[in-house]
Amino acid sequence: MSAPPFASVSSVFAADALGRAVRLRGWVSRSRSSGGILFVHLRDRSGTVQVTGRRDVLGSEPFEAAEHVQVEGAIEVDGTVADDPRAPGGREVRARQIHVVDAGAPFPIFQEQTEEFRLDKRHLVIRSSQHVATFRVKAELLRVLRTFLEGEDVLETTPPILTGNPAEGGAEAFTIDYFGRPGFLSQSAQLYLEAMIVPHERVYALTPSFRAEKSRTSRHLTEYQHLEVELAWTDLDALLEFVERMIVAACHGVAERRADELRALGRPPEELLAMHAPFPRTSYADALERLKGLGFPVAWGSDLGTAEERALTLESAAPLFVTRFPRELKAFYMRRSPGDSRTVEAADLLAPEGYGEIVGASCRETDLQGLQERLHAIGANVADYEWYLDLRRHGNVPHAGFGLGIERLLRWMLRREHIRETTPFPRTPSRHTP
Ligand code: 4AD
Ligand code: MG
Repeated sequence: MSAPPFASVSSVFAADALGRAVRLRGWVSRSRSSGGILFVHLRDRSGTVQVTGRRDVLGSEPFEAAEHVQVEGAIEVDGTVADDPRAPGGREVRARQIHVVDAGAPFPIFQEQTEEFRLDKRHLVIRSSQHVATFRVKAELLRVLRTFLEGEDVLETTPPILTGNPAEGGAEAFTIDYFGRPGFLSQSAQLYLEAMIVPHERVYALTPSFRAEKSRTSRHLTEYQHLEVELAWTDLDALLEFVERMIVAACHGVAERRADELRALGRPPEELLAMHAPFPRTSYADALERLKGLGFPVAWGSDLGTAEERALTLESAAPLFVTRFPRELKAFYMRRSPGDSRTVEAADLLAPEGYGEIVGASCRETDLQGLQERLHAIGANVADYEWYLDLRRHGNVPHAGFGLGIERLLRWMLRREHIRETTPFPRTPSRHTP
């Protein structure tokens, strides 16, 4: 006779499960024994349940084997579902048999260890309930964003990660040796997406982006998930309106489907459900005035760093668009503002509550000569960008796009202090292992 299939831990809590025989398998999150009874908290991907095993039922040898299973060891259990008011959730499984799959070594993770140690042991730390909740929300966020983009008739594309020219400026590109020639890890798929809009008009890509920024801040990773959208026939107003709808859809979708996880992580889902468009907008020039009023020593041309961005939204529950940046602060491909040669048609979206930039958006320069001048001005090797300049020679139309940092958005949504908590294996200037 073949054994019955394994059930999920959560099925134990179903109304009709009482008295039923079940087979479970999973990992031990806690274990103790007293007076010939073993109490185990058994975890699988659906939840945690108490399992009890009696020496007189299991037999001495199997009982002792089960007793020796360490935290995070793995077992299989055959038993019966019973009510027990003392057990978490009011139910337990009384074991008839416990099969040890992996007794495990003593688990080395404890609450009070240093952050460095915990990062060294990240491969084990990601089993914590906080990380489990975080990465379920992240998966949901990606799903919601893809669903939104599909609804907007935007085509998913797959641009390369290995490239021959940096997209955002050479200083922060990781260089590689590409069979003896210089290569770069992608900082942005944008230039490729601009090529793809001619046949498809509306495209997006969700790819890793790489930034060799040495900045040790709580919002920089050297590798992050980048969602980039490029739209033909689109001006800045239409682009920002698209961004707003996407962010609102992301907040609502995640709040509706991951409410428990959000609550557990300290973000009431109601706060995300309250998000609505339009988002307030301010020009860079007006933002400077506000910052001066707050005592920041800023002047035209000052970049808005972490502290400045934080100050602009610290008190607000809505995101804020900052528009019309000085040209010199922004990338070479951004379109000059009509009637104002000092600024570009660009906007950064700052997250609420002081979390800083989550989206960078702009209209793209369509003027071939203007692009060539900007490439010279930033010291780029123009020949490397010839293929990109070609796009301005064949079917060149007004277009715009943006990039969203998934971990930046998630950091705000989940109120995480540090961006590394939003990715399972963070890559920062000081760490690319485990
Ligand atoms: O503002 P950025 O540099 O814009 C671009 O790369 C454009 N080419 C995107 C486009 O228009 N297709 O980056 C876009 C977003 C930022 O707003 C931020 O959310 C995120 O990418 N980002 C980072 N996230 C984590 N760590 C870093 N080091 C990041 N750098 C940028
Ligand atoms: Mg930016």
